[in-house]
Amino acid sequence: MNYVSAQCARLNVVAIEVAATLDLCASIVIEMPVIEGKALLGRHVYMLANLLDLTIRRTAELGAPAEYRTVRNAGRLKADQLVEASELSTPEVLRKYLLACYLDVQGALAPLISGSDVLIAGLDEPTCQFAREAIYRLQQATGQLQQCIASEAVLAFGWKPTLWQWVWRDIPKRPGRDERFALTRVVDPRATGDSTEAVRFHRTLMSLEIPTIEACAQNILEDGGLPIEFLVDMCRQSYDEARHADAFILGLRELRCALGAYPISLDLWELTHQHEVAMRLAIHQRAGETIGVNSAQWWSRKFEDDQAERFATLYAIIMHDEVAHVRQGNYWIWHICGNSQEAVSRLSDQAYEIRAAQTTGVIDGQKKYPIDRALMLSAGYTPVEIARME
Ligand SMILES: [Fe+2]
Ligand SMILES: [Fe+2]
Repeated sequence: MNYVSAQCARLNVVAIEVAATLDLCASIVIEMPVIEGKALLGRHVYMLANLLDLTIRRTAELGAPAEYRTVRNAGRLKADQLVEASELSTPEVLRKYLLACYLDVQGALAPLISGSDVLIAGLDEPTCQFAREAIYRLQQATGQLQQCIASEAVLAFGWKPTLWQWVWRDIPKRPGRDERFALTRVVDPRATGDSTEAVRFHRTLMSLEIPTIEACAQNILEDGGLPIEFLVDMCRQSYDEARHADAFILGLRELRCALGAYPISLDLWELTHQHEVAMRLAIHQRAGETIGVNSAQWWSRKFEDDQAERFATLYAIIMHDEVAHVRQGNYWIWHICGNSQEAVSRLSDQAYEIRAAQTTGVIDGQKKYPIDRALMLSAGYTPVEIARME
């Protein structure tokens, strides 16, 4: 095998391992009950998606592009085989799997890093640099995943999952929530008012940010055959939502409000998880996150008026992230609908009907916040659609 084909073969191994680890992360995000762990892994999927993207790009530059869907299928097959071969469906098996995955990647990339031919190593600098970067990033992800599985919080909450539960073939009926939180279909009246920042932060964290990390994880796992750009977009959103979640966790701590102080709901998950990707995007990334944009802007201004600078900044940053999420949602909806306004409108109307039929109050609010035309344009709405909103 010549040098270039050998490099591509090595990169292909990396792509498959990274894809498998990414799917594993997304599965755990949905299943694991500890919300801090969800936020941690919610950040990591973005790093892994970028790594996968880089790997495939480099194979293309070297003239033998790895095919994205083939890579993802191979990653899944690998994990499926592991599950089938294992009697011990415990975190211990998962730990072994992660270690094996990391060692495979390290083994595949080692020759790139220790290349003795100065001329070739210098010439193939992009691949060598990629190899160093890939090993570092995967080491980080594997370490964090292991920490997550073995963390005191996880053990304290008695999370003893079996590996089959994490496998992407079956999306769980409900996402994991740890013992701190009381699940209820009935929303506590305190949690629907505007009485305190704590109530607002708790509700935003548990009804919006954490469920959106989970929704992104489902989009990563059940992507309807969309290209790698969709994966990267969903992983970027997951990273954003994880940062939002962490900010609200810190904010609640500052306000001396315990996690679980108020009842929570699984409305967002229940609204979307049983639908196909296009409808999930229409219900969530388009309709839902649009409310998020307008409400974040409203809250940012309110905190500014109240001279609560830091909280105003928090909402301003979130608002700009949310604009990007709606834009991505709109982009993929138009893509799936073959750029037909009629098809988009039909999907969108159905999504609003589903929301109206199923909403209990937690994720409502579109009437309350004024619409910002410039933001809506930036979020990918057409002028006709904006006129309909107003
Ligand atoms: Fe968010
Ligand atoms: Fe968002």
